[in-house]
Amino acid sequence: MSKLTLGVLASGRGSNFQAIIDEIDAGRLDAEIRLLIVDNVEAYAIERARRQGIENLCLIPGEFQSKDDFFLRIAGELKTRGVELVVLAGFMRIVRKPLIDAFPYRILNIHPALLPSFPGLHGQRQAVDYGVRISGCTVHFVDEGMDTGPVIIQAAVPVSPEDTEDSLSERILKLEHKIYPEAIRLYSEGRLRVEGRTVKITGYRPPEGHIVNPPLI
Ligand code: GAR
Repeated sequence: MSKLTLGVLASGRGSNFQAIIDEIDAGRLDAEIRLLIVDNVEAYAIERARRQGIENLCLIPGEFQSKDDFFLRIAGELKTRGVELVVLAGFMRIVRKPLIDAFPYRILNIHPALLPSFPGLHGQRQAVDYGVRISGCTVHFVDEGMDTGPVIIQAAVPVSPEDTEDSLSERILKLEHKIYPEAIRLYSEGRLRVEGRTVKITGYRPPEGHIVNPPLI
């Protein structure tokens, strides 16, 4: 089977992007990252792409006539490079229709909370402020809403009353780096089937030590 081709969109430091690179390098994910697109020049993800020899592009939304034009251009760049799956790795924008229509159920996002709790910005801060006892992270398919698409994998972490946004973020990030490559692997193996809001996963065995809860079929 040929490698799954990925396009990654990021806005910041890109540690999830790096986790995906590392899984590919370790031979645990049969994929190839064709392109990184960032929406600001300061995104450290660019540096990671350069180090790895991954083509990268910086597209500034303000330089486009409209948000739709911005996403249309992104879709074009990804299509030109033969990207099959789009991976949002800390991409801090709501994806609009031109990109979603170009990649139906072929865009993934990771969010630092147990959706549908605490969508949007600062999921970890929202969890601390609310005083929940459990939070975590979610990989989901992207639709036109804000963090509303069908859930693929979630992983949970305990939250203590002493937690700060930073301490909780650190704990959640470790799990993000595990479940995101894992979700991409499931996709690459053709194991994900979307039925309404539910994602069915066939023949899934969670790696040892992972606190994940996909439905077993
Ligand atoms: C991650 O915690 C990711 O879950 C979050 O941004 C961080 C990016 O870190 N994404 C969102 O909040 C999306 N709503 P990274 O740049 O090191 O991967």
